[in-house]
Amino acid sequence: MLVLGVESSCDETGLALYDSAAGLLSHALHSQVAMHAEYGGVVPELASRDHIRRVVPLLRSTLENAGKSLADVDAIAYTRGPGLSGALLVGCAFAEALGLALDKPTLPVHHLEGHLLSPLLSADPPTFPFVALLVSGGHTQLMRVSGVGDYELLGETLDDAAGEAFDKSAKLLGLPYPGGALLSRLAETGTPERYALPRPMLHSGDLNFSFSGLKTAVLTLVRENAEDASEAFRADVARAFQEAIVEVLVKKSLKALKQTGLQRLVVAGGVGANRQLRSTLDDEAKRKRFRVHYPELEFCTDNGAMIALAGCLRLQAGAEAKPAGSFAVQPRWPLAELMR
Ligand code: KG4
Ligand code: ZN
Repeated sequence: MLVLGVESSCDETGLALYDSAAGLLSHALHSQVAMHAEYGGVVPELASRDHIRRVVPLLRSTLENAGKSLADVDAIAYTRGPGLSGALLVGCAFAEALGLALDKPTLPVHHLEGHLLSPLLSADPPTFPFVALLVSGGHTQLMRVSGVGDYELLGETLDDAAGEAFDKSAKLLGLPYPGGALLSRLAETGTPERYALPRPMLHSGDLNFSFSGLKTAVLTLVRENAEDASEAFRADVARAFQEAIVEVLVKKSLKALKQTGLQRLVVAGGVGANRQLRSTLDDEAKRKRFRVHYPELEFCTDNGAMIALAGCLRLQAGAEAKPAGSFAVQPRWPLAELMR
């Protein structure tokens, strides 16, 4: 079974072909980061228009690289939500129209299900069950992943996502959007433990997160030292921010492993690229004897491959692809609605 995947929920247009027997055949991605950087964040209308421009050329290169034609495709999976409504509508309209024209069935996919299953695309895939720490610009969740369609939300952020907190703090430190990776590089030159920022909800007793207070603490520190704009000061603040957020993410992940009794942790999402997060988790994994998987970065961030994969696995698990033509997206779509 050959599944075409289409992702357009935010600022990345992703297309991919996943074959149930041969695995991922090809994928193509266009990131809009450079376009939105000028505005300091994602501009939804610009995102939608850019998806329209990119989707057909990306489809062409995906087919070409796989040596396939549209006639070979058995089903079209696309992200139905959650995400920006206009951006989702582009992918949905494209997939449904293509399905209608080719007389191929379509399957709407939950974006977070794509992220949760994305580690299966990596060279060193984890086996089920595992705990997933999903840390991206839009999401921060701990999930128990027991199999395809079998997910349990263990905890999530009550306000900002981890990546959002990185980006907002980076902005306060004068770094351009999206500043997460830049803040992390700056932090590496900072003095360890120079400032102690709060560790929000570290002892809340549950697996939820809250990061908006941390960002406010950065703002206060910057304001209190307004006369000191030196690189060294900014590096120390970046360091303190990173120490705080990494400690919370790591301790809650350990707690999730303990609570579920599982010994595999998967880190997905752009913040998973953070070096301090990785080295702290690696140290803990050695000490506490659990395995930690980091999918390749191209599958950590938004991409079409995870949508094609999730669609294919869903179909193999008995989900029904529907005749194309229904036109609906779900910008807000709780993952819990997928549970049986
Ligand atoms: O998964 P992703 O593409 O998110 C969404 O599309 O939502 O991840 C992007 C997020 C951004 O917030 C970015 O600043 C953050 O991941 N990020 C990092 C690093 N690299 C990317 N945050 C911390 N450290 C990094 N090295
Ligand atoms: Zn995502």
